[in-house]
Amino acid sequence: MTAHANQSPLGKPADDDEIADLATARNHLQVRQTAIYVYEWPVRLWHWINAAAIVVLAATGYLIASPLPSLPGEASQHFLMGYIRFAHFTAGFVMAIGMVGRIYWAFVGNVHARQMFILPFWSGKFWREVLVEAQWYAFLRDYPKKYIGHNPLAQLAMVTIYSGGSLFMIVTGFALYSEGAGQGTWFDTLFGWVIPLAGNSQNLHTIHHIGMWVIICFVIIHVYAAVREDIMSRQSMISTMVSGWRMFKDDGK
Ligand code: HEM
Ligand code: HEM
Repeated sequence: MTAHANQSPLGKPADDDEIADLATARNHLQVRQTAIYVYEWPVRLWHWINAAAIVVLAATGYLIASPLPSLPGEASQHFLMGYIRFAHFTAGFVMAIGMVGRIYWAFVGNVHARQMFILPFWSGKFWREVLVEAQWYAFLRDYPKKYIGHNPLAQLAMVTIYSGGSLFMIVTGFALYSEGAGQGTWFDTLFGWVIPLAGNSQNLHTIHHIGMWVIICFVIIHVYAAVREDIMSRQSMISTMVSGWRMFKDDGK
């Protein structure tokens, strides 16, 4: 935008002048912009490292379940599945250690750091606002509501599908890992009991595999919602997970 647009020949802004700059906009429309610090750096760092780990886990997990066609030549000349499994286990450890750190930060961080793990289950207001957000996402409302942290619908999905789902993937993943690590290892001591609980190793593979598709569905909807809300909700989203600051674009209205 330029301040010279739509000016009369005398250099004064014409009466029907469009908004020429932010100062004019503020006077004309009473627009107020507020920035609030929401996500502390450990939350942001965890988010992006964890997202990268999930991408690696889903890609390598898929290949573990549906291996590529076999390679020509002597089997001993190749270690492709070995590298794929190694990448899966490494990303699995990154995800698990990251989750331990993220849980720690829920205790010592700000109030928004706890939203990923707790639901105000008994609050009628919370459930009413979940409904309002669902209507907003379904294009049944004209105006968005604004939230400093996660909106109630996002919080519901994060606690149930993401936090619950990723703990499930970590426990079942380490139980599968304990089979390779062997009896008597600490993996076996901590997670070995999950195998008989699932019935047998094959069942455990299957439910770990199904968990992958649940997480993939979450990620697809989550990224769509983040981009959509960045554009439509009059408050910043993606940059908030980068800088930590939420900008409210016109909270005077
Ligand atoms: C595998 C990929 C991803 C996973 C598993 C994931 C998961 C999550 C989780 C669990 C949270 C809550 C964070 C917390 O409270 O500590 C979150 C927040 C967020 N994520 Fe992701 N994310 C992924 C990728 C992305 C991508 C690619 C984007 C950007 C397009 C994105 C944008 C955001 C934003 C903007 C928030 C904050 C939302 C809000 O303020 O309510 N995420 N994500
Ligand atoms: C979101 C996270 C994860 C996803 C999407 C994922 C996905 C998968 C998939 C699809 C499989 C193949 C299952 C089948 O046989 O059909 C698999 C196998 C496996 N995953 Fe995961 N996984 C995740 C987390 C973890 C974690 C945290 C660990 C812990 C180290 C882990 C360890 C394993 C192991 C040991 C196997 C069996 C490998 C084999 O039999 O060769 N996974 N995973």
